[in-house]
Amino acid sequence: MRFRFALTQDRAGDGETKMSATTWWQRATGYQVYPRSFCDANGDGVGDIPGLISKLDHLADLGIGFIWLSPVYASPMADNGYDISDYEAIAPEFGTMADMERLIAEAKARGIGIVMDLVVNHTSDEHAWFKSARGSLVDAKRDYYVWRDPDSDGGPPDETQSLFGGPAWTLDPVTGQYYLHLFDRKQPDLNWENPALRAEIWAMMNRWFDRGTAGFRMDVIDLIGKDIDAGIIADGPRLHEYIREMHRETLRGRDVVTVGEAWSARPDNALLYTGRDRGELSMVFQFSHVVEGWDAEFGKWRARPRDLVALKRVFNAWQAALADDGWNSLFWSNHDLPRAVSKYGDDSAEWRVRSAKALATVLHLMKGTPYVYQGEEIGMTNMAFSRVEEFDDVEIRNNYPVQTGRGLSEDEFLAGANANGRDNARTPMQWEAGEGAGFTVGTPWLPINPNYRAINVAADRSDPEGVFAHYKSLISLRNRLDIISQGRFVPLAEDHPAVWAYARELAGERLTMVANLTSAPVGFDLPPEGTVAGRCIAATAGPRDGLEGRIELAPWEAVAVLGSVRPT
Ligand code: GLC
Ligand code: CA
Repeated sequence: MRFRFALTQDRAGDGETKMSATTWWQRATGYQVYPRSFCDANGDGVGDIPGLISKLDHLADLGIGFIWLSPVYASPMADNGYDISDYEAIAPEFGTMADMERLIAEAKARGIGIVMDLVVNHTSDEHAWFKSARGSLVDAKRDYYVWRDPDSDGGPPDETQSLFGGPAWTLDPVTGQYYLHLFDRKQPDLNWENPALRAEIWAMMNRWFDRGTAGFRMDVIDLIGKDIDAGIIADGPRLHEYIREMHRETLRGRDVVTVGEAWSARPDNALLYTGRDRGELSMVFQFSHVVEGWDAEFGKWRARPRDLVALKRVFNAWQAALADDGWNSLFWSNHDLPRAVSKYGDDSAEWRVRSAKALATVLHLMKGTPYVYQGEEIGMTNMAFSRVEEFDDVEIRNNYPVQTGRGLSEDEFLAGANANGRDNARTPMQWEAGEGAGFTVGTPWLPINPNYRAINVAADRSDPEGVFAHYKSLISLRNRLDIISQGRFVPLAEDHPAVWAYARELAGERLTMVANLTSAPVGFDLPPEGTVAGRCIAATAGPRDGLEGRIELAPWEAVAVLGSVRPT
């Protein structure tokens, strides 16, 4: 399989694709599509695969190398597709398997790979396996799931809590045992200790590769090795054994990209997933920078102001940890997170465009594979929900009674869900200024952000200084310049409260990036390790051909200069 960014592969005799300066997904930028909210081709208010196909030219023009496609499989949609009832059928609201095959082919024709979402920590309770398993204690599929007898008082076997709030155990009346669900009760956890289950998953993955899939994004993969009786949820004792088995059985010898979603990954264990000799995954997708911004007591549900120095520390630590081995994902946003410009930038009319571009500059010139979440490329913003009942998301709905029960006031919960809740990212894509925003001619499943008349793809793309043009340029730079994909990362002025700065170095060249991440002008003394003179490759407030000493930065000014390393 050849993608836009496929260059030479460094293959050893064993057929392993080794991490090398030329691996295509190290130069590529990913783009996440949340299909329900991307483009609705048939007017039922729900985005679908034909709608996505109709927008592939937008993505090809942006220059992305692959699409991470959130789940499109058959599902009762308790968690919008992260509850799968058949891994090899497409949800009718999204289309058919023929549509899926056409999507893979049409994307490939544009040099874009389709990366499927692999959700195998759990299935839907409507999956055939679970329907069979719950029928009797001796059912052949019983052991595909995690069952325990009730506690002596008839309650759940232990205190494990669901990540969506409330107990992680639900009593199944048919057999009188509880089943485990780390997410919603409609998402029973699979029992990875069962080898027959693992074999079914490998076979399913291989069939998706046969259909031309370019890789997998692996949902909460750090949870599959859980040892529930020992109270270990993430990073369980057999986690890496399972991933290595997966690699042997499905990934080995294939030129694909694999992305492990791992909320528990840290700089000191990420190499277990992505070290070049581990035989596991291409990269981790971890959330240290997200969690850094959460409240110690109420997590994401109590909004906290951005702490720029803490944020920089997290990114710098990761850049250092994976400097010589392993690979990271770079992202501000996804379908579980708020909109980048609202969370980290300034989404006021005055600074929205420039701050969105500054944030992109900071992220896209680091080492790692950047991900653009749909709408980010035009600076889409959070939506202001005015009442808790307006949210659709199962995580928000399940957490509302739990968090208010723990002492968070109703107003605080609403503020937290508005600041950090998942529905922000899930409002429909804003394509045009007309009714339905070009997303649908029907009634959208979730309201369209009312700012779509001003903020939409058509308007932004017609502006040469718009957000899209800036993303397109950054994506193309990464594809062309080794110093961005491979250069050594040098953090600068980590403790500065307003400015984000770093240098990249490779083969006698230096790339220095400096960004004012506030809405006020600021003076900045660039440390000598950042001094550079040469060519401006990215700028949000006018070009500069050198960076040295004292620099006066305009609000949200980001600038990157590429030149030779000058003796200091
Ligand atoms: C991942 C997904 C999220 C989903 C959860 C359960 O975190 O990104 O959307 O709800 O796993 O599958
Ligand atoms: Ca539709």
